[in-house]
Amino acid sequence: MPTLIVTKRDGETVEIESKPGLSVMEVIRDHGIDELLALCGGCCSCATCHVHVDPAFADKLAPMSEDENDLLDSSDHRTENSRLSCQIPFGADQDGLRVTIAEED
Ligand code: FES
Repeated sequence: MPTLIVTKRDGETVEIESKPGLSVMEVIRDHGIDELLALCGGCCSCATCHVHVDPAFADKLAPMSEDENDLLDSSDHRTENSRLSCQIPFGADQDGLRVTIAEED
């Protein structure tokens, strides 16, 4: 199974093996990491699933939609590596993906 590597806000890094077919947000949430609020449940309308993605994986991620881009603009913590984790499908191509949970807005 592919592995997602998540760095939490306190700096702890967790490796999560997950079956493919979920979003990165769902993988993190289902592992019990509750600092990723994901309040809208993945509808791309809250931006509380904001993560910073390892740039080495930039070409292995689904492209960013206009809605995602607009929502990320509302964050004070946006960087060039910002994504909404509910908008990133997680599968074999993303094995080893590293994400860092963004600061809370
Ligand atoms: S969970 Fe709300 S935008 Fe991702």
